[in-house]
Amino acid sequence: DGDVFKYYADGEWKKSSSGKSVAIINPTTRKTQYKVQACTQEEVNKVMEIAKSAQKLWAKTPLWKRAELLHKAAAILKEHKAPIAECLVKEIAKPAKDAVTEVVRSGDLVSYCAEEGVRILGEGKFLVSDSFPGNERTKYCLTSKIPLGVVLAIPPFNYPVNLAVSKIAPALIAGNSLVLKPPTQGAVAALHMVHCFHLAGFPKGLISCVTGKGSEIGDFLTMHPAVNCISFTGGDTGIAISKKAGMIPLQMELGGKDACIVLEDADLDLVAANIVKGGFSYSGQRCTAVKVVLVMESIADTLVGKVKAKVAKLTVGPPENDCDITPVVSESSANFIEGLVMDAKQKGATFCQEYKREGNLIWPLLLDNVRPDMRIAWEEPFGPVLPVIRISSVEEGIHHCNASNFGLQGCVFTADINKAMLISDAMETGTVQINSAPARGPDHFPFQGLKDSGIGSQGITNSITMMTKIKSTVINLP
Ligand code: G3P
Repeated sequence: DGDVFKYYADGEWKKSSSGKSVAIINPTTRKTQYKVQACTQEEVNKVMEIAKSAQKLWAKTPLWKRAELLHKAAAILKEHKAPIAECLVKEIAKPAKDAVTEVVRSGDLVSYCAEEGVRILGEGKFLVSDSFPGNERTKYCLTSKIPLGVVLAIPPFNYPVNLAVSKIAPALIAGNSLVLKPPTQGAVAALHMVHCFHLAGFPKGLISCVTGKGSEIGDFLTMHPAVNCISFTGGDTGIAISKKAGMIPLQMELGGKDACIVLEDADLDLVAANIVKGGFSYSGQRCTAVKVVLVMESIADTLVGKVKAKVAKLTVGPPENDCDITPVVSESSANFIEGLVMDAKQKGATFCQEYKREGNLIWPLLLDNVRPDMRIAWEEPFGPVLPVIRISSVEEGIHHCNASNFGLQGCVFTADINKAMLISDAMETGTVQINSAPARGPDHFPFQGLKDSGIGSQGITNSITMMTKIKSTVINLP
């Protein structure tokens, strides 16, 4: 069936022996846009076997050569930004310009990773024994960083390209092989991205990309004995994966409920601009989106007024027209968001706009006077709906932020840097942004979540380090 995109294994594009495919529904038209292969467990086994042997040779390939190939892949990726972005528009309804930005950002990430890799992997440590009590200077310890083996990368739908390369590039520069399981929505963009790595000329089998149903190959991949590391970004599934995975390093980013605490002395125009950008970019479908505004009561009316005025200017419609608000990824996602909205309505939240939905398209909605008994106060809508909770003290804001089971990022707006530092210290999140909305980038910054938001830390340097192990050689003198 020529209509079904092939999967990538052993340096070739292949049809699955299952004869089955998985449909990718365009969120805007709600019709099948593409189809990908439904790979079987046997095919996964083969991919793992090849990945294992390809890794052995790759680890012996000089570091500078590995870097050279990554630079090549980055350049090819950027050259092909238009067709890849087109897939992102059709598969995940990412606004056209943002789709291009995602690909360019990904190319930059790959290059940066190659540069960073040659620096940090080219250095080891030298230790001598006589610093520890009872020892003479008779043992010299040399350390270096060695690869883990096969890295399994599972990115989410919202950045199928960027959050794939943020796992692929560190894994490869560190000498690992890579098996990618792209999200179904975004799989075709991911296959195109993998094609750029193919064109760059990486050795056969070093990179594979298997597509298919989570129910068929999901657990099979994450529990596969050949996998030596899992890097996952997504939702609750990550918690289940962490419980089932073997004794291997895990890197996980599982969402957030990023709080925006606004103090009385904040620049409210700056705050409003950041709330709208932070809350509504890509229709709120970002782990780092502003997901709850905690504003001091005395300035709440003014701030809500300013945010409302900006929300009114957001364009709503198809991603092809580069609208600010585009259809959310799936019907079930739209239904979930609607459930949160209806719960808030029933419990008395103030609707700053009328709730409006057509298919998967949900108009941007600001909910004021949200209270802790409403689901939207705690749950992550992953859609263009933003709750405002009015607080009477900073402590109340910090308390709400810390009562969440998430702890990804948070932000605080104030003109007083001393207060900002104290609040940042008190917020139990992996990152606190002072006077700006939460964001993962620039992509070399450390990125980590506390509590249910994740395991480990990402960012280019941290990911490279995480995908290696320390190996020591001790020279014993007579
Ligand atoms: O939602 C995934 C998370 O990594 C967000 O990234 O760049 O939108 O802050 P970013």
